[in-house]
Amino acid sequence: MARSKSSLTSPRTGSDVIYVNMLGQHIVVLNSAVAATELLDQRGANYCDRPDFTLFEIMGWGRTLTFLKWGEQFKLHRKMFQSTFSRSNVGIFRPMQLQESRKAVRSLIKGPDNWRESTLLMTTSIIFRIAFGQEVPSESSPYCEMTKAASQATTAGGIAGTSLVDIFPPIQFVPGWINPSAVLRHARVSRNAIQAVHDQPWDSNMRAIEAGTAPYSFMKIHWDRFVESAKAGRPQEASLADIKGATGATIIAGGNTTWATVLSCMLFLTRHPEAQRRDKHAYRGFGDRCELKCLDDFIMETMRCLPLNPLNIPHKSLRDDVYRGMFIPAGTMVLTNTTAMATDAGTYKDPNVFDPSRYDRGEPYPLGNFGFGRRKCPGNWLALASVYMFLATFLAVFELEQALDDEGKPKIPEPGVSVGLGGHPLPFECVLKVRSQEMARLLMEDA
Ligand code: HEM
Repeated sequence: MARSKSSLTSPRTGSDVIYVNMLGQHIVVLNSAVAATELLDQRGANYCDRPDFTLFEIMGWGRTLTFLKWGEQFKLHRKMFQSTFSRSNVGIFRPMQLQESRKAVRSLIKGPDNWRESTLLMTTSIIFRIAFGQEVPSESSPYCEMTKAASQATTAGGIAGTSLVDIFPPIQFVPGWINPSAVLRHARVSRNAIQAVHDQPWDSNMRAIEAGTAPYSFMKIHWDRFVESAKAGRPQEASLADIKGATGATIIAGGNTTWATVLSCMLFLTRHPEAQRRDKHAYRGFGDRCELKCLDDFIMETMRCLPLNPLNIPHKSLRDDVYRGMFIPAGTMVLTNTTAMATDAGTYKDPNVFDPSRYDRGEPYPLGNFGFGRRKCPGNWLALASVYMFLATFLAVFELEQALDDEGKPKIPEPGVSVGLGGHPLPFECVLKVRSQEMARLLMEDA
């Protein structure tokens, strides 16, 4: 590819747009926000397809928006998500998100060492309530087990669209015992767990819908529309399989991603105690503009410093294109390097320093953690509200300290991310200390 003038260039090629050919597959990696915006946002109509995700289809994620190729079904699912989770509509879930945040902080007051489990239970319950109207009351709920199995299967699939079976689909027909692909064997055994995530909460919520007791949820909204159209004799926009697939997709796309972001925030709060001190009096509630800005800046800086999907989920082009004199053939897989964008020295002063106050100086929030163009994450407003509400509640009660090693030296958590779809921060330690007994008491009394 030709040399570009962008500041974010690869030292080897001198370009912010890198081309690779892998077994005949054209792959383009965009290393700058400018290139990603110009191609995926401004020419979004051409870059809205996805590569074949054969591995995820084998697992049972066939009707999952994330993996749908461009076409009528994609447009339908995208509309279902965008209409339900638009910025103006997500406010409807706020009381429930706040209730789950308070529940989680109460359980942390009782058992601060269980912070991983308590925060996972919170994000699981939030997403099950949003998707299926089903609260997840405790870690022993079968929903926790099936979500864990489904997430592990999906994460073990590696970088989406790059496994052996994605690149060479016929390999899926080779019998398991001679098949060289461990992830493919894993995908086959994961089917039951993934099917369970679609079926079991659906059946429970259907009983509640029939009894007239079901709360507002993604499933209920789209089921009600389905019933209304049937009664009016109108043609159905979405089939039952579409509604079921999209509802299941909400769980896999929106549960662990939100949990991983909560964990990242805890990691950076532990690593940078000064960030807690700076905003000590700011984290008090939900609503005041100044509080909102402080906490938003902290969350954005966390996302900038540790993108959980460093190469994002691949897009694919539909038609031939020419960009800055470079020819990009139809069918090219396009990856966006969010880490490169987030550490661009032309955009961020001292990009490797964690500094939420950089946004007071006018530096832009990171671009790309939620993707680009017509495939941009439709759950981003919802996810950020969950993270925000938990942190605001948590920091009103607790502060985080670094754990000590055997010699009494602090163990400073190192930011790192696991490989695979929906990465997680690598394991780290932290110690939760109650900072405000008064807030803790108020929260416990409010139960
Ligand atoms: C902090 C949490 C989250 C992060 C970091 C995140 C990140 C992402 C990213 C990077 C993509 C790919 C975008 C692209 O291809 O350009 C994506 C897609 C998607 N996300 Fe999220 N997400 C989060 C939460 C959620 C939530 C809560 C939901 C559901 C309510 C959700 C639903 C989806 C769906 C359905 C897609 C596929 C969109 C498509 O292919 O058209 N996400 N997300």
